[in-house]
Amino acid sequence: MLRVEDITHSFKTGNEWTSVLHKINFAVKQGEMVALLGSSGSGKSTLLNLMAGLMKPTEGHIYIADQDIVKMGENKLAEFRRKHIGFIFQAYELITSLTVRENVELPLVFQSVSPSVRKKKALALLEQVGIPDKADLFPSQLSGGQQQRVSIARSLITEPSVIFADEPTGNLDSKTEEEIISILLNLNRTMKTTFIVVTHEYKVAEQMQRIFTLRDGFLITEQQTAAKAGQQAAVETEAQAAAETEEQTAVEAEQKAAVETEQKAAVETEEQTAAGTEEQTPAEAEQQTPAEAEPAEGGKP
Ligand SMILES: Nc1ncnc2c1ncn2[C@@H]1O[C@H](COP(=O)(O)OP(=O)(O)OP(=O)(O)O)[C@@H](O)[C@H]1O
Ligand SMILES: [Mg+2]
Repeated sequence: MLRVEDITHSFKTGNEWTSVLHKINFAVKQGEMVALLGSSGSGKSTLLNLMAGLMKPTEGHIYIADQDIVKMGENKLAEFRRKHIGFIFQAYELITSLTVRENVELPLVFQSVSPSVRKKKALALLEQVGIPDKADLFPSQLSGGQQQRVSIARSLITEPSVIFADEPTGNLDSKTEEEIISILLNLNRTMKTTFIVVTHEYKVAEQMQRIFTLRDGFLITEQQTAAKAGQQAAVETEAQAAAETEEQTAVEAEQKAAVETEQKAAVETEEQTAAGTEEQTPAEAEQQTPAEAEPAEGGKP
C-alpha cells in the first residue's frame, strides 16, 4: 500500500546542508496502523511530510497505491493527494470562519461533490467521531479534543487510501489523548483505513500494530507490538474455530451419510424380504400344491 525506498533527505540552510534522513526503507500494508516513534528532531515530521507528498526527498522513492509520488508533477500530485491522502495536524488547522460541518466538507468542495451529498457525509462522520451536536458551531467554540475530532472527520471525508497524523494528540491532556487515539484505532478497525501516526510517546505507539523508531534520521527498529500479536491471536483463534467448524461439519456429514446408508440398507433388506416373501409364495404354492394335492389324490378312492 505504502512503500518507502531508500529515502534520504537534506535541508539547505545558507551554504550548509543538513542531512536529516538516511536511507529509510519500510513498507506498510493496506489497513495497517503504524506508529512513527522518535525523540524531538529525529526526523519524524520530515518523513511524514515526504510521504504525504508535501515536499520532495533529496533521494529515493515513495510508492502509494503503486504510484511513485516522488516522480509526480505538481498538478498530478495535487490531484493524487486530494484523492488518496488524508492529513491530521497537531494543531488541527481548521478554518475559523467556517462551521464545523463546513470544515469537514471542505475537501469535497474541491471534488465538485453536490452540497447535499457533502452535508450527509459530513454529518455521518461527525456522528462517528462523537460530536454530532457540534455541526453548526465554529472551531473557536470547541475544546481542543473536539477540534481534533473535526480534523479527523475532515481527513476521512474523501475516503483516502492512507491518513498521516503528525502528533495528533500533542496538544491534548492525557485523558483526551486516550479518547482521540481510541477513535483512530476504532476507525482503523471498522473502516480499514491505513494510518501512519507520528508520536514521541511509547504508550501511544504501542497501541498500534507496528512501531518504526527513528533516531537522528536513521530507522533503528521496526517492531511488532503486543496489539498486533493480540490481533494475530484473534485471527488465529477465528481460523481455528473455522477449521473446527469445518471438521465438525465433515464429521456430521459423515455421520449423516452413515445413517443414510444404514437406513437405505435397512429399507433394501425390508424390500428384499418383502420381495422374497412374494417370490416364495408362488414357489411354495407350487411345491405345496402337489403335496397338498397328494393326500387329496391319495384320499381318492
Ligand atoms: N525546513 C527546514 N530547514 C532546515 N532544517 C529543518 C527543516 N525542517 C526540519 N529541519 C531539521 O530536521 C531535523 C528533523 O526535524 P523534524 O521536524 O522532522 O523532527 P521531529 O522528529 O518531527 O521533531 P519533533 O518531535 O520536535 O516534532 C531537525 O534537526 C530540524 O532542525
Ligand atoms: Mg515533528
